[in-house]
Formats: sequence, C-alpha cells, structure tokens
Amino acid sequence: MKKLPVTRYYGSKRKIILDIWNLIEQEKIQFDSVLDLFGGTGTFAYKAKLEGKQVIYNDIFKFNYLFGKALLQNNTTKLTQKDVNFLITKQHGIDYKYYVKEHYKDIYFLDHENELIDIIVQNISHLKSPYKRAMAFYALSQTAIIKRPFNSFHRKNLSLRTRDVKRKFGNKTTWEKDLVNTFKVFCKDINQYIISNGLKNKALNYQALKCQETADLIYIDPPYISERGYHLRYHERYHFLEALAHYDSFLDFINPNKKNKEVLINNSDEFENKHTIHTQIDKLIKKYHDKVIVFSYRNLGIPSATELRKIFEKNNKSCKEYHLHNHFYALNRSNDKLHEIVFILQ
Ligand SMILES: C[S@@+](CC[C@H](N)C(=O)[O-])C[C@H]1O[C@@H](n2cnc3c(N)ncnc32)[C@H](O)[C@@H]1O
Repeated sequence: MKKLPVTRYYGSKRKIILDIWNLIEQEKIQFDSVLDLFGGTGTFAYKAKLEGKQVIYNDIFKFNYLFGKALLQNNTTKLTQKDVNFLITKQHGIDYKYYVKEHYKDIYFLDHENELIDIIVQNISHLKSPYKRAMAFYALSQTAIIKRPFNSFHRKNLSLRTRDVKRKFGNKTTWEKDLVNTFKVFCKDINQYIISNGLKNKALNYQALKCQETADLIYIDPPYISERGYHLRYHERYHFLEALAHYDSFLDFINPNKKNKEVLINNSDEFENKHTIHTQIDKLIKKYHDKVIVFSYRNLGIPSATELRKIFEKNNKSCKEYHLHNHFYALNRSNDKLHEIVFILQ
C-alpha cells in the first residue's frame, strides 16, 4: 500500500489512520463517497482515495486546501525537474516583491531564507498548471514548517535558532537545513503520492458549518481543545502559511499589535472556542443526521466524551465507540492518560 506523506502538522491522524479504517471495515459500512470536513493533511481522504472511494476534502485554510487539491483532486500531474529548477531560481522578467523579507525580519526565518520564500512563492504563481501550483505550495509550506521551532508560527522566536545556547528541546539540525534543498526534497516527495482512483475527487475551502457538500460517510476530526490549559488555535499556529497562500493581499491583514505580526486571514474560532464548540458539534451532527459519521476525538478534551455521547444520543444516532491506546501520546509520559476515541454513528 502507498503510505501517506510524512508531515509535522498538529493533530495529523497519519499514525492511526489504518486503525481508524479497520474499524470502519469491521463495522461493514457500505459507502461509496466520503467527506473529510476538517481535512488538515488529508490522511483520511487520502486513505479513502486509495480504497476507491470518491473523496471530498475540506479545510478552513487555503494552504491546507491547496494540499488537498495537490494530493486528492489531482490524479496525474507531477512536478518535473524543469519545474523545480524554475521554482528555485530568480527569473528575469518577474518584478519580485519582498514582503516577507521586509515585514518579517527576525521573526521566523533568517534574511536570506525570507528572500527565498518571497522568490519561490512568486515563482509558484507563474506555473501554468493549478495542480503544479498546489504541489509546489505544499512543498514550500512543509519546508517552512520543519524549519520552525515547535513547527509553528505562534511566536516571534527566531532567536531560539540563532542564540548560541545549550538546548534541551527542539531540533537545531532540522531548523538549519538548507531551505532550497529541503524544498526540492518535498517537491520530489509529493510526486510519489499522486495517484488516480478513476474517480473525480475534489478539495474545498470552507468553514465546516458553511460547507454545502455531502457524501455517504462524513469524517469529522475537529480541533482538539484540551480541558487543561490554554488552547492554541490552528490559526495562531499556521497563520503565516495562510499569508503565503494569499501573498498578494496579506499585508493588509497583519495585526501590528502582535510581536509575531499575525496575519488575520481566516481567523475564525469556529470549533475552537470552548464555550461554543458544543453547539457547533450539535449543528454538524444534525446536518448529517442521515449519514454515517465517523468522529475522531482525543479524550480529556472539551467537550468531554460524556457530553459528546449526549449530543449523539439527542440526535438519535446509534453510537459505537472504540478506544485506540498505545500510540504516540503514550510516548510522552506527561500525556500517558491521553488516547484517541473513534465514534461511529449510524
Ligand atoms: C485535528 S485537525 C485535522 C487533522 C487531519 N484529520 C489530519 O489527519 O491531518 C483539524 C483541522 O481542522 C481545520 N479547521 C479548524 N477550524 C475549522 C473550521 N471551522 N472549519 C473547517 N476546518 C477547520 C484545521 O485547519 C485543521 O486542519
């Protein structure tokens, strides 16, 4: 079987996707199409594509949607060596802007890296094929993520990379990897995941509650809000990638009051606010009440598992629940009570 692309995306289900899929098979659910409503890295949708299902992928962020487009909607297009050479080279005849270099100095990346990001992102927009643009954008996003401390853009903390101190955390070697070489590796990497399942699959870019599409099986993997501590929203973690996905307009959306110059595009707290998430989950379950719903949940979260069961019951869904232990949370001793639950609602 083709494996799934390795990413460092928060909340990716890559490591447990086979367990989740086995549960669906065990339940002998009949379905031809799936809607992966909170798609992220698209693990569920990609597995469904491999299994011959028609796939609809959705995510609130354009940078993720582009990933869905590259991997799921795209059946055949691949990046060539010529494309990659074009992408990494400053071209005569393009009037480059240097928005990242000028506005993000000392925030996330070194000056020369900022300049390369400016060049690559603008070269991407000159590729003719929309699928190639999406693939190249995926490669740029992954490059940016792995070069960041904590794989995130929630803080101005470039100094963690540059200060000459002993570190107990993080991965200095990865942060310092050459940006262009890393980008090239991701371009090569995504090519090997492009497959056709003979069906028309598509990627969408909506807030979950506004998505009008449907399918036989709905996969719901909303953001995890821990019952303890502060919740760092997806927008806070990844706003910089969303800015790059809106390169021509993002300067107008920079929040000048934040040290990390957060870009406010698609800054929503839908499904990320502990006071409103219960009602929003209820709305989703109602909306898809006549479909099979597979709901991924990490325990010790908001809502609690008991509150979730009540929402499912209230909407007349028969609910089976499976607990997946022994996966990566268990590797971290402070997390040893955490595990995944999969609810299957029919
Ligand atoms: C737990 S992650 C999904 C991970 C995914 N299943 C995977 O394996 O990569 C939740 C996803 O929901 C997206 N998201 C957050 N709020 C959303 C909303 N209101 N509507 C749609 N997507 C949203 C985030 O961008 C994130 O990718």
